[in-house]
Amino acid sequence: MKGIILAGGLATRLRPLTWVTNKHLLPIYNKPMIFFPLTAMAKAGVKDVLITSSSDHAGHFAALLKHGEDFGLNLEFVVQENPKGGISDAIRLGESFAKNQPILVILGDNIFTFNLKNSIDRFLQRGKGAVVFGVKMATESKQYGVIEVDMEGKVKSIEEKPENPKSDIAQAGIYLYDNCVFDYIKNLVPSARGELEVTDLNNQYVKEGTMYCEMLDWWVDAGTSFDELLRANNLVAEKVKKGEII
Ligand code: G1P
Repeated sequence: MKGIILAGGLATRLRPLTWVTNKHLLPIYNKPMIFFPLTAMAKAGVKDVLITSSSDHAGHFAALLKHGEDFGLNLEFVVQENPKGGISDAIRLGESFAKNQPILVILGDNIFTFNLKNSIDRFLQRGKGAVVFGVKMATESKQYGVIEVDMEGKVKSIEEKPENPKSDIAQAGIYLYDNCVFDYIKNLVPSARGELEVTDLNNQYVKEGTMYCEMLDWWVDAGTSFDELLRANNLVAEKVKKGEII
């Protein structure tokens, strides 16, 4: 399995912090944001990881992370020419890198410590399809993709930022795909906000009946607002002080 971490985009919701600095290099208490998805890849045993970023920041990632030796990873870098292209457009850049293997995709601003290994094993045993990771949210699920799941964990629908959410499960930015994903991306058209949406990509697997949901314990999308960035910092500070993470 290969890994792709998405670290491009314009991060307009966090300006002026992100006028010069790439969002994924902003601090989460004692480390840069991107250390969380990198650690998740390493813990899951996914060694070959591609980082997609923008042309003005690619060098910053290379300077910080080099070949990935500090994480025990082999890192490669690619530039997403269109920073407004969307998540599926960035995943598309990994087609030749993936070499027909399944992929683990993690958004570079997703803060979590869950070990993805068992979920990956279940996915590989099924041999095809995809997995979306979900997290229970009391009230705020409608800011995200919202996942409707059946009793067996199979996904029935995913709706992007719905007015009336069908469940309290928010779609995290962590996905497992078989090697059909690049063909599915070719079917996509830009959404109303001009992006190739990950929800439209995922719904092709839902339609095929091969999309499963795995649940996370805690998760913060640190890129959505100053408040979520602050919440991620506070949560991580608490966990570091309790010795739960380093
Ligand atoms: C994107 C996805 C959304 C998902 C979220 C997770 O939202 O479109 O479905 O819940 O990432 O981080 P965006 O941050 O692009 O608004």
